[in-house]
Amino acid sequence: MVDTSDFEKMERDGWGSASIAKGYADGFEMASRLVAQKLADAVDAGPNTEVLDLCTGHGVVAKEMVTRGASVTGLDFSEPMIALARAGVPDARFVQGDAMATEFPDKSFDAVTIGFGVPHFPDTARGLAEAARVLKPGGKIAFSIWHGKGSDGSFGWLFDAVGRLADASIALPEGPDAHALVDMSVARPTVEAAGFDDVTLIEVASQLCVPNPETLFDVFDGGAVRAASLLSRQPAARRDAIRDDLAARTRAEGVKGAQGYIVPAPSVVISAVRI
Ligand SMILES: C[S@@+](CC[C@H](N)C(=O)[O-])C[C@H]1O[C@@H](n2cnc3c(N)ncnc32)[C@H](O)[C@@H]1O
Repeated sequence: MVDTSDFEKMERDGWGSASIAKGYADGFEMASRLVAQKLADAVDAGPNTEVLDLCTGHGVVAKEMVTRGASVTGLDFSEPMIALARAGVPDARFVQGDAMATEFPDKSFDAVTIGFGVPHFPDTARGLAEAARVLKPGGKIAFSIWHGKGSDGSFGWLFDAVGRLADASIALPEGPDAHALVDMSVARPTVEAAGFDDVTLIEVASQLCVPNPETLFDVFDGGAVRAASLLSRQPAARRDAIRDDLAARTRAEGVKGAQGYIVPAPSVVISAVRI
């Protein structure tokens, strides 16, 4: 069995940084807002729905649920994220805790959402099983995952640039594949094994907005824990090369608008029903 304790520490330390929390909230804002709507649709959030939003971050999914009249509890292990969420979504309840082992009783929620949180779990199966535990039978789960390596979008561009330009001897601690669940042949058995049925996967054409082409690098370097951990340890010349590469892709494939460049950051939303 793989020891993921170093990965878990990297995730906790990374998200515990106020600058990463703010960097994520700002850098991924456009995509996470759109995907929050898809998550709310997937669990039929509305009045009388008791929702647990795991890995709530700055509360973007919680906010969407509140807007739809749901009663929302958001959980995150990051203190700065919880502070942002409390400030931004006063009508939800926020709890600091670990999604892998929550304080909630069995069968206490109608729905569980996890916006871009599952890839950060040190053990995907254990995290999904915990979500299943707190859901009522017939309750719904929905979670989102970015498309990664090889995808036509900013995460794919980053993998490509890192593969060609980074010092390969600088590695991340071993952890689960962050993007494996975008493939239904992986998602279905993984989600079913945790106690769910009726697994569905939809593609979401999510996008990021960056003020100028050079700042796509900063979105990853300053707001995504794995990428930040990898990029921050690269020598300056390699960081510059990766920045330039991402900027060139943004100029070539992004769409220039009033706020800056819109670049693709495709993702999927996976949903299922608790047995
Ligand atoms: C990529 S952000 C997603 C924020 C938000 N849900 C969204 O959709 O944009 C991931 C969040 O998961 C949190 N997180 C990661 N692992 C966690 C865990 N084991 N328990 C609780 N929170 C966790 C991080 O602190 C961070 O706020």
